Amino acid sequence: MSEEVKVSVKNLTKSFGDLLVLNDISFDVKDHEFLCIVGPTGCGKTTFLNSLTKLYDIDAGTITLGGQPIDPKKQNIAYIFQEYSTMEWLTVEENIGYGLRIKHVDPAIIKERVANVMEIVGLTKYANYYPRQLSASMLQRVVIARAFAVEPELLLMDEPYGQLDLQLKYHLEDELLNLWKKTGTTVIFITHNIEEAVYLSDRILVLTNKPTKIKQSLPNNLPRPRKVSDPDFIKLRNEVTDLIKWW
Ligand SMILES: Nc1ncnc2c1ncn2[C@@H]1O[C@H](COP(=O)(O)OP(=O)(O)OP(=O)(O)O)[C@@H](O)[C@H]1O
Ligand SMILES: [Mg+2]
Repeated sequence: MSEEVKVSVKNLTKSFGDLLVLNDISFDVKDHEFLCIVGPTGCGKTTFLNSLTKLYDIDAGTITLGGQPIDPKKQNIAYIFQEYSTMEWLTVEENIGYGLRIKHVDPAIIKERVANVMEIVGLTKYANYYPRQLSASMLQRVVIARAFAVEPELLLMDEPYGQLDLQLKYHLEDELLNLWKKTGTTVIFITHNIEEAVYLSDRILVLTNKPTKIKQSLPNNLPRPRKVSDPDFIKLRNEVTDLIKWW
């Protein structure tokens, strides 16, 4: 991680009608930082990512990427939604290469990158299958692979591993860390799973209930590769758990 600020969020405020969701939120993400965001259900995590990608207009505040107003049309941002979506009429290989094709990347490079990420997520054998022929967890892998393939400068992930079986989840967490190290991308990763946040992150932002503020920003300097049974790992996990307890 460098000291340079990659994403800067200042005074972000977002309501839906009378419901104030994001309440004057400010924080920075450093270049190549892996930031995890945890918070109670319904506090506005998805709303926050939708504001970053301009799916939602915000009421007040500014969001910049690399010093420029954030703009997914001009900047290389990949977003893995909480609800998965694949294109039914395209094969696995075509789905994964989609983001590269719309950017007019050289077909030979597309072929190579898509082959590489299909290998990582274990879909090589299914390259010519259509989404309707795949199981739910395979569909999730297609979506994850599509985001990896564009090698984004900012990767936004909204509970991407929530419905995967544990073994695949651990595998993809490690692959995500490998990709993150290799490509130098900056990651904002939302999760309900505190263990996952401690395993992945450089820093954890804990959000409050609505109207949502940042409750605490916890640096995570545990050495990698991390072990969930390590006493320091457990200590940080307990610290985060105490912060989000509402009972
Ligand atoms: N398009 C919308 N119109 C009206 N209200 C919305 C809209 N999107 C979200 N909300 C409301 O804003 C609040 C935050 O929703 P959001 O989906 O961002 O929460 P979340 O933190 O992602 O929750 P979860 O952990 O369950 O995914 C909720 O109260 C939700 O009902
Ligand atoms: Mg959500």
